[in-house]
Amino acid sequence: MKFFIDTANLAQIKEAQDLGILDGVTTNPSLMAKEGIKGKAAVEQHYKTICEIVPNGDISAEVVSTDFDTIIKEGKVLAALHKNIIVKVPMIKDGVKAIKWFTDNGIATNCTLVFSAGQAILAAKAGAKYVSPFIGRIDDSGWDGMELIHQIRQIYDIQGYKTEILAASIRYPNHIIKCAEAGANVCTCPLDSILGLLKHPLTDIGLAKFLEDAKKFA
Ligand code: G3P
Repeated sequence: MKFFIDTANLAQIKEAQDLGILDGVTTNPSLMAKEGIKGKAAVEQHYKTICEIVPNGDISAEVVSTDFDTIIKEGKVLAALHKNIIVKVPMIKDGVKAIKWFTDNGIATNCTLVFSAGQAILAAKAGAKYVSPFIGRIDDSGWDGMELIHQIRQIYDIQGYKTEILAASIRYPNHIIKCAEAGANVCTCPLDSILGLLKHPLTDIGLAKFLEDAKKFA
């Protein structure tokens, strides 16, 4: 399973990249706004900087229009920023049409805001490179986000769809483990959830004892 970081915060992206396990970055308009990025030029520059920090990863850049012609125009500009940009397109009617157009024209896409298996089928049929089910938001609304990952995995395997399942809206480390078990191809996570995987009290207790004993033969 690939690890993406789900943030537009450059310090966090650098920290995850330094860990050596990062395969890409996802952003969205809310994450960009959180970093105080304002204006088209600043947004485009921010994407370029992210691509420089993670030179070998896929970097999702989201369109903010909802009609076919403008999505295409916007997506072309984003895709031209860097070879690793993946154009992130919402799961709406014109979005599906646009994903198909991008696929036919050699531009890779990430279909976002996916909350059902039916939506995931449409994304795959349109040729999206990635489909992003938002598991945390499904959990938040009283449903089971992980069930959707299992369902999409099963459908994609039966049907031979090549679209990669990019589990998004991760809330805690156990989500990442469950995604790996469910066969997600990618998990996009906040830095805290990635670092949370490191933690185990027995590791801390064991290390303290080893370091203490090491003093005996130093
Ligand atoms: O990038 C999309 C997704 O990961 C959003 O997560 O935490 O806002 O539900 P969240």
